[in-house]
Amino acid sequence: MEASLTLPTTTDRATLHAALLPQVRALIEGETDTIAAMANVAAAVHEAFRWHWVGFYRVVGNELVLGPFQGPVACTRIALGRGVCGTAWKEDRVLVVPDVDLFPGHIACSALSRSEVVIPIHDHQGRVVAVLDIDSSLADDFSAADVEGLTVLCRSMEPLG
Ligand code: SME
Repeated sequence: MEASLTLPTTTDRATLHAALLPQVRALIEGETDTIAAMANVAAAVHEAFRWHWVGFYRVVGNELVLGPFQGPVACTRIALGRGVCGTAWKEDRVLVVPDVDLFPGHIACSALSRSEVVIPIHDHQGRVVAVLDIDSSLADDFSAADVEGLTVLCRSMEPLG
């Protein structure tokens, strides 16, 4: 398996997502170990977009527990309904936060984070089993193309369990 990414020299997000998706699918295809798949997805998204923090939180019991990520150290556990991640889990929906300072209860793992997007990932039964969390050091950094591309990426990881 080719274990490096080939990415176009563009800053156009839709183009980057389109280039990245098949390569990520190839990387995780047939991989039954959830942590291994998450690790490569976090690395691939971080390499392609250079966002400040890219990683996963897994649902373990009644809280989210830090999973594979790329970026600075982060908080380890997040309760249901807490912060952007816990809210996306509780409400089972994609959350885009253009300005983290305006999100009540935002958990500031890094003072450099300005905007954030969180995407739930589901198991066979449709239950949320993890979230993909991405922080940018730029305000309002997540476009509709990012939400679309990252949602498709997360769907391609499902079912996860
Ligand atoms: N900001 C997140 C916490 C996780 S860190 O961003 C890595 C939140 O409010 O849930």
